[in-house]
Amino acid sequence: MFIAIEGVDGSGKSTLVEHLQSHYIKQNKEVVVVREPGGTELGETLRDILKSPNTETLTKDTEILLFISSRLHLIEHVIKPALARGAIVIADRFYLSTVTYQGIGLDRLPFVMTLLADTITVHPDHHIWIDVEAETALQRRKKVNKLDKIESRGIDYFKTIRVGFNMLFNSPRMLNDFNSKLPVLNIHRIDADTLTLSEIRDCAIRILNQIEKI
Ligand code: TYD
Repeated sequence: MFIAIEGVDGSGKSTLVEHLQSHYIKQNKEVVVVREPGGTELGETLRDILKSPNTETLTKDTEILLFISSRLHLIEHVIKPALARGAIVIADRFYLSTVTYQGIGLDRLPFVMTLLADTITVHPDHHIWIDVEAETALQRRKKVNKLDKIESRGIDYFKTIRVGFNMLFNSPRMLNDFNSKLPVLNIHRIDADTLTLSEIRDCAIRILNQIEKI
């Protein structure tokens, strides 16, 4: 099974990923956790370029291509071998981040969808979207560390990204309508504005238990 966890920066994704990892380890299942961008030597180098305020400014399309390069490398070197072994793969972000952050946030949606359709050969079975107000998420992030290059784009950018996730949630056929090589999405929304991290975990585990029963 391949699960992607999505949401704006500061939504509690990474903590949820850790919780889910221990949940499956307790069940003696092999679980492989990956993060994007990153997860391979090349991916971590691209991550530094994409996030560090000290690296040069990228054009929109260069940024998109770097995120996708990191993803393709991760798919071939980590995700596909793990799925082939029967492991559960949990991704801290996958291509819905590119659809929302670059496609919708940077107004390059057709370019992003065309690239995804032509390059991505493995799709998550389920996407869990932790939905929180952009303001709440960004405030949380500011308390923990200095904002990186992408986080510094400001509140309006993050509000647009949230709108983007909402669009995908409400129209799960959106990518598939654009290109039939892209799937109809299984997106599960956790309305997390007023939830604690442990309540988010309980909610995600309920969703996953239900999926396993189907
Ligand atoms: P990260 O520190 O992992 O943020 P978070 O913990 O919120 O996931 O940084 C990843 C950043 O990269 C984050 O700001 C979202 C952004 N991003 C994109 O803009 N497009 C993408 O396709 C992906 C995977 C991430």
